[in-house]
Amino acid sequence: MTPRLDLEALAFTSGAHLLVDRALRGLPPGARLRVVGADPALGVHLRAWCRARGHGFAEHPDGGYTLTRGRADLQRWAGAERAGRPDPDGLVRRPPAHWGLAARGALVEAGGPAVASFDLDDRDVVWADLAPRLYAHAAAAQWDPATAVDWSAGTKLPAEIEAAVVQVMTYLVENEQAALVIPARLLARVHPHFREVQQLLAVQAADEARHVEVFTRRALLHGGEMGTSSAGGRASLTTLLAEPDFSLASFLLSVLGEGSFLALLAFLDQHAPDPVTRQVTRLARVDEARHVAFGVAHLEHQAALDPTLRGKLRAAIERRHDALVDTAGLNADVFDALVVLAAGEWTPAAIARGHRAVAELHRAMDDGRRQRLARLGFPPDEAAELSALHTRNFM
Ligand SMILES: [Fe+2]
Ligand SMILES: [Fe+2]
Repeated sequence: MTPRLDLEALAFTSGAHLLVDRALRGLPPGARLRVVGADPALGVHLRAWCRARGHGFAEHPDGGYTLTRGRADLQRWAGAERAGRPDPDGLVRRPPAHWGLAARGALVEAGGPAVASFDLDDRDVVWADLAPRLYAHAAAAQWDPATAVDWSAGTKLPAEIEAAVVQVMTYLVENEQAALVIPARLLARVHPHFREVQQLLAVQAADEARHVEVFTRRALLHGGEMGTSSAGGRASLTTLLAEPDFSLASFLLSVLGEGSFLALLAFLDQHAPDPVTRQVTRLARVDEARHVAFGVAHLEHQAALDPTLRGKLRAAIERRHDALVDTAGLNADVFDALVVLAAGEWTPAAIARGHRAVAELHRAMDDGRRQRLARLGFPPDEAAELSALHTRNFM
């Protein structure tokens, strides 16, 4: 017996196709469906809808219409494929470009556009097993610059100490700008199949946006002008922007640069002359620790799969060192400002103490870099040699 669907007063302009489609979907191709309804335009709309969907349509002598189920809608999905599995354990090694923006695990209709700009599409290049957990942690750790810092605690400092803080903040901002742009550019190239990596890079960029904000705000807190930006410092950061390789960019920025910044931010936390400076550097340091963790995890993953990776990392450090050999490295104003902050006062003994503290900072940065290089499998002597070639600008 032919099944019968009564649409009552429901019109196609109000969604009647949902009920017709649902009734047809349960039938095999060639089967019939009787449709009746009270909407005066039902015949016109039903005929057009059937034609577009490839179903047969005829008026029934006793009123209503007889539909014959076509197979066009079945054929539409004939070439469809699942875009992997939704969980990270089901990642595909090389997701095709035509999956494009589809959700991981979606049923992807054939014939969509191939998105060539997702060129970071190799699991072994972009993925780290830590990425989903780090993303969840990063999302939970977002803080609001307006409330996380007690801006009213900005006690007025002696002019020369304030100038040293402003100089360091000015330097931090330009480094943060580089740290913001690089993950943002890489993220646009990561195939969405590896969405946890995209998400992590997006939150990393948001972290850097906040760092730019709080360091700028601290610099301007007492109404002064920003400090200086040296050509050598900007040259160092520009070489980071020029690195197109995901792994090498992540190595130079996150493992070596942000790794060195962990020691710098700890130094500023320790020697901050006022609570606002201490709070902003402390908040940034927690975020930076995550950025470094992802860089190291990503490269550890890759080093385990690719025995030639360490040679490429080494070459990247050497190339950058050669490109920067004629530049001054760290802004001398920044170096002096760090000494002044650690000294705290203008006596020969205090300046000597500040100078020793900055030398100690350099050693702490070097120690950290050597430890991270060792985690990537470099033997101690090579780790020491490569750490020494790292930019004098710290990032
Ligand atoms: Fe940062
Ligand atoms: Fe960072």
